[in-house]
Amino acid sequence: MSQQETQLSPEYLISLGQQFGTPLYVYHAETISQQYNKLTSAFRGTNTVFFYACKALTNVNILRHIYSIGANVDCSSINEVKLALHAGFPPQRVLYTSNGIGFDEIVEAQSLGVIINIDSLSNLEKFGQKFGHGYPVGIRLRPNIMAGGHLKMSTGHDKSKFGIPVDQIDRVLKLVDQYNLRIGDLHIHTGSEIKDVDVFVKGIEVLFDLIPKFKELQFIDLGGGFKVPYKEGDGETNIQELAQKVGEAFANHPNPGGRPLQVWFEPGKFLVSECGYFVTKVNVLKETNAANFVSVDSGFNHLIRPMFYDAYHRIENVSNTAATPKRYSVVGNICETDTFAWDRTINEVREGDYLVFYNAGAYGFEMSSNFNSRYKPAEVLVKAGSAHLIRRRDTFEDLLRNQIEL
Ligand code: LLP
Repeated sequence: MSQQETQLSPEYLISLGQQFGTPLYVYHAETISQQYNKLTSAFRGTNTVFFYACKALTNVNILRHIYSIGANVDCSSINEVKLALHAGFPPQRVLYTSNGIGFDEIVEAQSLGVIINIDSLSNLEKFGQKFGHGYPVGIRLRPNIMAGGHLKMSTGHDKSKFGIPVDQIDRVLKLVDQYNLRIGDLHIHTGSEIKDVDVFVKGIEVLFDLIPKFKELQFIDLGGGFKVPYKEGDGETNIQELAQKVGEAFANHPNPGGRPLQVWFEPGKFLVSECGYFVTKVNVLKETNAANFVSVDSGFNHLIRPMFYDAYHRIENVSNTAATPKRYSVVGNICETDTFAWDRTINEVREGDYLVFYNAGAYGFEMSSNFNSRYKPAEVLVKAGSAHLIRRRDTFEDLLRNQIEL
């Protein structure tokens, strides 16, 4: 299936905006399947498993779709673990890659029977004291590799809080020995939006030095971070090349124990970014000396990526596709600077037009908030040609729901 065939048309997105109201997140299930197929077909014939990093988008209907197409799931909090189990994933297909969490969450994850990656010496020691050899555990390591599309998304470099620094491996080994820990996997995640496949190969090389030290190792977890194209000419991680290079790296470093290791990846964006459309409506046009401002009925409370990471999202005026392009700055309606795009060429905009932000499935709704006491958007899933409301828009009652009025 080509990308074109899986894209939702402007007319259809307008009709969904009219039916469900705006701002509205729309997800297209078939695009997720298409992205997953890209991964599985590139890695066909290899011993590789994909865990969807559900922090990107946790709506339970998305989780169920991901499960139905055969992926496993990676979680970053105990609540994500519970959502995944609620969605129907069996515990052995749920991975909990924690960072900086209290030991009580690890105990709870163990009681739920999921796979656990621990990222601190302190929790590893507590795990050893409580479970010893009785429950397998993975170790999240910091490989000291700088990679990713923005410093805020880089997690593997030598100033990062994530993982146990590889240079502390002796202390890890001491704990493994002391508590007879059963180390099932070694994990690294270097960042998000990594286009260069050699970054993953570098990560493997860091791990290869360590593999012989863990006698019961079964899995190597290389994390997520595949790049998706946000703007024209951006390109995405070449998954075919990645599969080939990962295969070669393992072929050149046969595991000393002779046991074949299974490779894991944790893609988030790659699976759900492109499936998502954020549909907004134009409230106000304001011509000023500085810019032609277009204010839409949203803000960084609904899509924070442009303000937080200077991220680029393609924006189209789906109501006026044949019009002459003009230059605009697209902004939101909240009480501080919330610029979605500066000086962007968009087909002539009129008040009431629908503007669609593309590639908004990953970390869009998921990072939204009620700032300015605005409602969080509704979410719609389009699957097999039908549109289903999968989250209603907040209501005024939702704003008061947990408040205690004295
Ligand atoms: N595994 C771990 C341990 C992670 O921390 C992450 C993302 C992933 C996998 C998935 O990475 P992905 O394949 O989605 O790049 N909010 C940012 C991205 C931050 C990602 C944090 N960790 C954004 O909107 O670009």
